[in-house]
Amino acid sequence: MKRPDLNEDVTRIGGQSGLAALPNRTTRITGWGHEVPATILTNADLETIVETSDEWIASRTGIRERRIAGAGETTASMGAIAGARALAVAGVGIDEIDLIVVATLTPDHSMPNTAALIKDALGGTRAAAFDLSAACSGFTYGYAVAHGFLTAGLGQRALVIGAETLSRVVDWSDRSTCVLFGDGAGAIVLEALDLPQDQVLATRPGTLSFELSSDPSGAYALWIPGGIGADADPLIKMDGAKTYVYATRTMAAVASAAIARAGLTPAGVDLVIPHQANIRIIEHVSKSMEYPMEQIFVNLDRYGNTSAASIPIALSEAVAAGRLKPGDVFCTVAFGGGYTSGAFVTRWDADPAHGARAATVDPARITVRRPEGGSNSAAVPEALRAHLDARGAKRQTSQPQ
Ligand code: ACO
Repeated sequence: MKRPDLNEDVTRIGGQSGLAALPNRTTRITGWGHEVPATILTNADLETIVETSDEWIASRTGIRERRIAGAGETTASMGAIAGARALAVAGVGIDEIDLIVVATLTPDHSMPNTAALIKDALGGTRAAAFDLSAACSGFTYGYAVAHGFLTAGLGQRALVIGAETLSRVVDWSDRSTCVLFGDGAGAIVLEALDLPQDQVLATRPGTLSFELSSDPSGAYALWIPGGIGADADPLIKMDGAKTYVYATRTMAAVASAAIARAGLTPAGVDLVIPHQANIRIIEHVSKSMEYPMEQIFVNLDRYGNTSAASIPIALSEAVAAGRLKPGDVFCTVAFGGGYTSGAFVTRWDADPAHGARAATVDPARITVRRPEGGSNSAAVPEALRAHLDARGAKRQTSQPQ
């Protein structure tokens, strides 16, 4: 059977309309926040770990540095801090949340799920909590699932988190992948919003549309063998060229489909927040959708590809940078392992000044439950640890006494 051409008709490979199940109910983002580790790994650092150069990495990817989780920092701990900040910004407590969805490909454990650990770390007693696996598209899928839950009347509020500790599944001897990825977490509070009977799509606030798709022909072009298969290798394998082609074919098509479902043309979108994988992929979106780069939010130079965390971190930074004001329409779009892809379109209606409330969160007060007598954090990989230790020692001796 001939494979469908994504550019011809993206919906034929499983596109889904995300318009509200209850016709006069949608969702809105009321809280946002992110957390990244303090340790920065620059391209210059990578030059001492693998045979590469700042020039190669920056010109092929746009990435200049990424964050690396320290000892004890995990997907759950970063997700919990990002989640606490989103709750503070929304002005709600954890027990006002009905559902916690954590999109991740690097959960602390196969079981329990990361969402349960985050709920516990935030002191929650009532939310349903589960993880969702859709690689770098995970946050768009998680947002869609939470939207469906809320618009179906199953709850009032959801905490949607994208969190990753990719440094623990990267092969630090493989220069073609280790330069690309970083660690971090981002979160939003999504709330049900009941609209007046006569509110038309063109003016309604909140979530307007989705497009979700998957193309398993790329299943083994970007993967982590891990799991319970015979080959339990836990490290990322990637056919970079094939993935690049998929990304450039898909991103604009999926974003365009979501924008059309929202009843808009690309001109009706004020800001695009793409998955932060590679500046050349983002430039391709800019060119094919005729968006100037100024209309596209980019922070991959500082964080690299943080997979499911990339869009919520970017969203949180975009609001802080004054790039979204009430009434603005933004479109997110992602691609990733699976291959999966996803996009959603939302009319922003929260007060960006609420972002300042995130500063009330004290990360030191957020603790993730550990197994009895054990630890739930994977150690910093040896090649990295050796480099970071040597770097720390060098900095200490070069400091004036
Ligand atoms: N430093 C120096 N040289 C390198 C490096 C490096 N870090 N990595 C690869 N090279 C070399 C290769 O060995 C190759 O050398 P050769 O020609 O002697 O064989 C040369 O550079 C060119 O390699 P290409 O693969 O052609 O480089 P390309 O321009 O395609 O860029 C890249 C590679 C950046 C990986 C690109 O293919 C890409 O971005 N692909 C998409 C990857 C992606 O986004 N993955 C994330 C998916 S999201 C998720 O779900 C996790």
